[in-house]
Amino acid sequence: MGSRASFPVVPISSDRVFIVTGANTGIGYEIAKWCAMMGATVILACRSEDRARKAMKTMQEEFETEKAKGTKGLTESPNLAIEFMQLDLASFQSVLEFCEEFKKSGRQLHVMFCNAGLGFGPYKQSGDGLEMMLQVNYLSHFITIAKFLSIMRQSGPDCRIILMSSKAHEFGNFDVTTMNYTGTANKFPGLDYYGRSKLYQIMQTFAMSRRLKDSNITINCMHPGVVETELWREMDSCIVKCLIGFSRKCGTLRTSLEGATTGIDLATNPKHTGVSGHYWIDCKIVTSTRTSRNEGKQETLWNATFPFIEQYLTETEIAELERK
Ligand SMILES: NC(=O)c1ccc[n+]([C@@H]2O[C@H](COP(=O)([O-])OP(=O)(O)OC[C@H]3O[C@@H](n4cnc5c(N)ncnc54)[C@H](OP(=O)(O)O)[C@@H]3O)[C@@H](O)[C@H]2O)c1
Repeated sequence: MGSRASFPVVPISSDRVFIVTGANTGIGYEIAKWCAMMGATVILACRSEDRARKAMKTMQEEFETEKAKGTKGLTESPNLAIEFMQLDLASFQSVLEFCEEFKKSGRQLHVMFCNAGLGFGPYKQSGDGLEMMLQVNYLSHFITIAKFLSIMRQSGPDCRIILMSSKAHEFGNFDVTTMNYTGTANKFPGLDYYGRSKLYQIMQTFAMSRRLKDSNITINCMHPGVVETELWREMDSCIVKCLIGFSRKCGTLRTSLEGATTGIDLATNPKHTGVSGHYWIDCKIVTSTRTSRNEGKQETLWNATFPFIEQYLTETEIAELERK
């Protein structure tokens, strides 16, 4: 695991159901694989079935290798309990179908890991008419969580929601009047809007943890470090090139597994049971920006989010979000 933060490999019952979005590659792949190798049933919620199935095959092969190395604490089952479900976060229709299909299965849900994310590139609009990072990184995950809260409330103790945020939240301006970018495409401030989507996730964590206080559900968010993944593929910016180059030179550029460490720890470590409402880096609670910690602004964001999503939620689901 290297000299950086690490996680204990703990046995997890296959009755515990985890969903990891964007689990076919990068950080999400490692999170899904390690949770499954500890024994959990893990659903890979991905937009491409082909890429997800290839990832599942590789996960099984890497599980065999890990067992051959003699790694302690892995599940004794010969096969990983991994499954694919279709989810395209760029489409609210796909989000609704995904949630409906999961609900219909009648299963419990113990860990909802909102990992999938888009990095910034040229301006893109979703089929729902929204700036893409707002929808993929923030709004679609928000809807998914809202729809699954009642299932999680009935899934027994120690249910966890984890949001993959980023230190880039520091670059996001807080202005709820411009949440959805409506300016000209060639003037799109990508880094600002990527930062905003990650800022919203942190503020959602804080706002939602107040609402989930004293329940069986915790919510936390994290930054994985600077990780060499496909995320950077469209980010043709000087800042990104400098950041990657600098991180590589300093030896701080992480592998996907190193980037996944805090997430795996948050999802599986029994010592985090009941710990909620924090921003984590390297398996430690850290302080996010002053704006993100401002309770008044968190509530402003909470209220500004509803007009984008309420048409996709039932009255019961909306009430569930506010239930103490
Ligand atoms: N890499 C870093 O340095 C870094 C730093 C801070 C935070 N993060 C965050 O970490 C998370 C994982 O990123 P990563 O670095 O592992 O990047 P990655 O390798 O590009 O993986 C991103 C995952 O999200 C999925 N995804 C993208 N758009 C989607 C959509 N519309 N619907 C469903 N899934 C979608 C991708 O699916 P496809 O394979 O189909 O594209 C992929 O599985 C992101 O939230 C990112 O913002 C990363």
